[in-house]
Amino acid sequence: MPEIPVITIDGPSGTGKGVLCGYLADRLGWHRLDSGALYRVVAHVALSRGVALENDAELAQIASSLDVSFKQGRGESRVILDGNQDVSGAIRTETCGNTASQAAAHKAVRQALLQLQRQFRQMPGLVADGRDMGTVVFPDAGLKIFLTASPEVRADRRYKQLKDKGNSVNLARLSAEIKERDARDAGRSISPLIPAPDAIVIDTSELNIDEVCSRVAAEVEKVFRLP
Ligand code: DC
Repeated sequence: MPEIPVITIDGPSGTGKGVLCGYLADRLGWHRLDSGALYRVVAHVALSRGVALENDAELAQIASSLDVSFKQGRGESRVILDGNQDVSGAIRTETCGNTASQAAAHKAVRQALLQLQRQFRQMPGLVADGRDMGTVVFPDAGLKIFLTASPEVRADRRYKQLKDKGNSVNLARLSAEIKERDARDAGRSISPLIPAPDAIVIDTSELNIDEVCSRVAAEVEKVFRLP
């Protein structure tokens, strides 16, 4: 069986992973996996059912029975739970992101989502973004990118994103929450946020998103043929 090609894009929030992943998937005509959305949906379900974040068995149960699909909407992908609930907006809140980060620290939750993530690997190829795509989920990926940016730049980007969506945000609090979330994601014992040894690390602090995309497109071209 021919190997299905994969590109992984890992890094903390606010580095442009999502936009880059969408750009490459469109350009190559490949499938896309937003793995953070899966952790966010687990968090969303846990919050709506009042499940304690220490209850790893219950969280893993939610993760293993998750029915999530991604539907291409107007320019952006919609996240659908149980076939009919559009949770795209609900999972993007800071509360959901922080809860996802806490749920994601449980080994049982990560294991429950492993197979589901690997099922997205389908012809003609997959571009996957997250924290452990290159280290754990797709260690044999043909190209691994790890994006970084200073915490200040990332907090600022996130602040603008939330403001643009009409949310009222406090930059200092947002910044503290982002630092806390990154420390938890990078410090956990299982699948921590670290670059794979064979990943290309790109600091995006001084780059705009178009520059990030063309920089990575040049790397893609060295490994795969770009249309
Ligand atoms: O990428 P994101 O902000 O949507 O991810 C939300 C949280 O989910 C993140 O703080 C940690 C967790 N996550 C993870 O542990 N592993 C992944 N591959 C993706 C996300």
